[in-house]
Amino acid sequence: MDSRCLIRLATAADLPAMVAIERAVFSDPWTASAFQALMGPSSLVAIMDGEIAGYVFARVLADEGEILNLAVRAERRGQGVGRRLLDCSVDQLRKDGARTVYLEVRASNDTGQAFYRRMGFEEIGRRRGYYDKPHEDALVFARRIAISERPA
Ligand SMILES: CC(C)(COP(=O)(O)OP(=O)(O)OC[C@H]1O[C@@H](n2cnc3c(N)ncnc32)[C@H](O)[C@@H]1OP(=O)(O)O)[C@@H](O)C(=O)NCCC(=O)NCCS
Repeated sequence: MDSRCLIRLATAADLPAMVAIERAVFSDPWTASAFQALMGPSSLVAIMDGEIAGYVFARVLADEGEILNLAVRAERRGQGVGRRLLDCSVDQLRKDGARTVYLEVRASNDTGQAFYRRMGFEEIGRRRGYYDKPHEDALVFARRIAISERPA
């Protein structure tokens, strides 16, 4: 992992940079208000060379964690930023009581699926027509997290 990468909580001041990455990465991007509404203890940004390289948003409901959004700026990929963000978010979800973490990924998103598989997630189902722009199925992935799992 690149030691220049710092992970910290997302704040309102990060919104413009997150929205810019979001628009560059996704066909149906979140708005600034969506980011703001979902900010919580598992909502993190990765900082490299003083700028936001990526972010992850997640939440806990009872003992279920959910990764809501995760993206790394194109020019920062392949350097361990996504791994670091996901590890830190999962660790926070575990501290907040999650025992299983779920997420959805577009059926056409081969990179996202390969990444999550590499990160220990397994495909457990499909939600038909879950996404718009374009209309598409979601694959549902899950990963159990042990209470004793050590922080990343
Ligand atoms: C998916 C994404 C977050 C990965 O971020 P990243 O910073 O490039 O990932 P990392 O460099 O931390 O890679 C972590 C692991 O995933 C693997 N991985 C990443 N991209 C991969 C790919 N395209 N194919 C196969 N494996 C891949 C890496 O080999 C690495 O494994 P290792 O640590 O054992 O070597 C990034 O490509 C991205 O933002 N994609 C667009 C948005 C997206 O698809 N988000 C997820 C679905 S919502």
